[in-house]
Amino acid sequence: MEQTFVLIKPDGVQRGLMGEIISRLEKRGLKLVAAKFMRVSQELAETHYGAHKGKPFYNGLIKYITSAPVMAMIWEGPGAIALVRQTMGATNPAEADPGTIRHDLAIVTSRNLTHASDGPESAAAEIALWFSSDEVLSWDRSV
Ligand code: CMP
Repeated sequence: MEQTFVLIKPDGVQRGLMGEIISRLEKRGLKLVAAKFMRVSQELAETHYGAHKGKPFYNGLIKYITSAPVMAMIWEGPGAIALVRQTMGATNPAEADPGTIRHDLAIVTSRNLTHASDGPESAAAEIALWFSSDEVLSWDRSV
């Protein structure tokens, strides 16, 4: 079953939106298989956002992501990677479709509440970066 990495970023935590964001993913039908509430180290932030190094917003992004706790999660389901990104909406909340998390709850790209893997390679890399295999649960929803 497809898995994807999702991060509720410091603005989501500080604005008290963790429950809302998790609820939307649960209601969509996705299954949570790993979660941890944690502070992001400088090293983890730089590795996770390595592709953005050198961009004008990079330093601010690293400062922001390490500034307060985040909720790191793995969500599972058929087509989970695309489904989660659709539920999040466009990176820039001003361009996100109504009904998406970023449209409904955010207004600027630099505080867009969540990160979600953008494809199978990044999902695999981000899951391996943020979680060890013993932190990922295999469970049956019908129990
Ligand atoms: P995310 O999906 O976590 O991936 C990279 C992050 O960089 C993005 O969400 C935003 O939080 C941030 N970002 C991308 N573009 C910009 C921008 N133009 N200005 C500020 N932050 C940005």
